Amino acid sequence: MKKLEEYVRSIPDFPEPGIIFRDITTILQDPDGLHLAIQSMQDKLKDTEFDVVVGTESRGFIFGVPIAYNLHKAFVPVRKKGKLPCETVSMEYDLEYGSAVIEMHKDSIKPGQKVVLVDDLVATGGTIEAAIKLVEELGGEVVKVVFLMELAGLKGRERLKGYEVESVLCYD
Ligand code: PRP
Ligand code: ADE
Repeated sequence: MKKLEEYVRSIPDFPEPGIIFRDITTILQDPDGLHLAIQSMQDKLKDTEFDVVVGTESRGFIFGVPIAYNLHKAFVPVRKKGKLPCETVSMEYDLEYGSAVIEMHKDSIKPGQKVVLVDDLVATGGTIEAAIKLVEELGGEVVKVVFLMELAGLKGRERLKGYEVESVLCYD
């Protein structure tokens, strides 16, 4: 069976010059790749007690929902601005290429709930830092953050100092 890293496709200069885009679609389109990715992320939660998986739009949904389903936990989406229909909290942030605003429903996390954040990738850490701030604003306790891939050169982990961070694959 292939190793997980062999399923990742790396595309230079996408979406702009200088960025090496780590493409997860080649993992997802192979049943063994998909299984290995979900299982490897889920394994990082073996000894973690928690109530809710929070996933960030859109690639965080792909991995967050099956993990929540398999572990019989709730799933809460962090969405890009203007998509959620009820009262929201929101946060602006910068990422490797551009900036954005993310939102959560105000009633999506109950105060004191233990939260695991899931995303496909951490680059600068801007997205997940903003998501953490929203979870905490709602009274959630972030007990772990799980990524499939970490781009270590962009130092996202430093931005997440004080939180327990796990990643399955690490790139320079
Ligand atoms: C990507 C990725 C992470 C984020 C990482 O999402 O899925 O959420 O960027 O970058 P950062 O650590 O610098 O914040 P993107 O905003 O491109 O949206 P997508 O998942 O909808 O493609
Ligand atoms: N999101 C932010 N930076 C990225 C990269 N280099 N590859 C894939 N997704 C990303």
